[in-house]
Amino acid sequence: MKRKKIKAARVIAIVSGKGGVGKTVTTVNLAASLNLQGKDVIAVDGNLSTPHLALHLGAPIVPVNLHDVLRGKNEPAEAIYEHHSGTKLMPGSIVLKDLYNLKIEHEEFARVIDDLRTKAEIIIIDSAPGLTSEAIMTIKACDDIIIVMTPNLFSVSEALKTIKIAKNFGKNIKGIVVTRARLDDNELKIENIRNLIDEPILGVIQEDDAIRASIMEKDAVVHSHPESQVAHSYMNLAKRILRVVR
Ligand SMILES: Nc1ncnc2c1ncn2[C@@H]1O[C@H](COP(=O)(O)OP(=O)(O)O)[C@@H](O)[C@H]1O
Ligand SMILES: [Mg+2]
Repeated sequence: MKRKKIKAARVIAIVSGKGGVGKTVTTVNLAASLNLQGKDVIAVDGNLSTPHLALHLGAPIVPVNLHDVLRGKNEPAEAIYEHHSGTKLMPGSIVLKDLYNLKIEHEEFARVIDDLRTKAEIIIIDSAPGLTSEAIMTIKACDDIIIVMTPNLFSVSEALKTIKIAKNFGKNIKGIVVTRARLDDNELKIENIRNLIDEPILGVIQEDDAIRASIMEKDAVVHSHPESQVAHSYMNLAKRILRVVR
């Protein structure tokens, strides 16, 4: 009898040069959108010093978290939780004693991520911003990179540095997601961004109050406000990403 071949999960990192651009919101909504499209996804909080991923999905304190796994206290499988929507996540610790004087162990994190490859179809890591050791830890552990940026020159300038570093580590840049876009005269036009960064723009996510409302509801906007424009944009982004990864 032929044995069914299990394909290892693809690991996608959501990174940015600047903070506050919408990485965590994008991780939550991309994971939820991919899940709605039938994919088995685990979202991992790679922002070890300020982990907020689980807060977005209403799971602030869990019995076992990523920090416990990194300390060797628990197995990775013990820190995977299922949101009622079916989206899986691996939360970090939000307790001060776990975060104070935190050691960033790149190899240990990469081992945890590799362990998850047999536990889902897609792993999405929410990164810390910039080029800190924490952000590099996520870049090193992934296969593919998605750059999140807002439509302004600071964000472009930081994104270019992150792209360079990620390429130096031999990672595939799958493209850019422009978030919090108002599409008015006070920000860069999408065409300008296309001219400044030589990577495909995978999606444009508008600035939308539905996002802030979804955060208050502790759920992805694709669940809380499925008819909003921003929810449609995230669902389309997920479709596009399924076409460009693997
Ligand atoms: N598309 C959006 N529309 C409106 N507000 C947004 C949007 N995306 C993000 N935000 C706001 O920006 C804040 C920062 O987003 P977050 O995903 O936490 O950024 P990062 O993870 O890059 O630091 C969120 O708390 C939310 O209030
Ligand atoms: Mg974040």
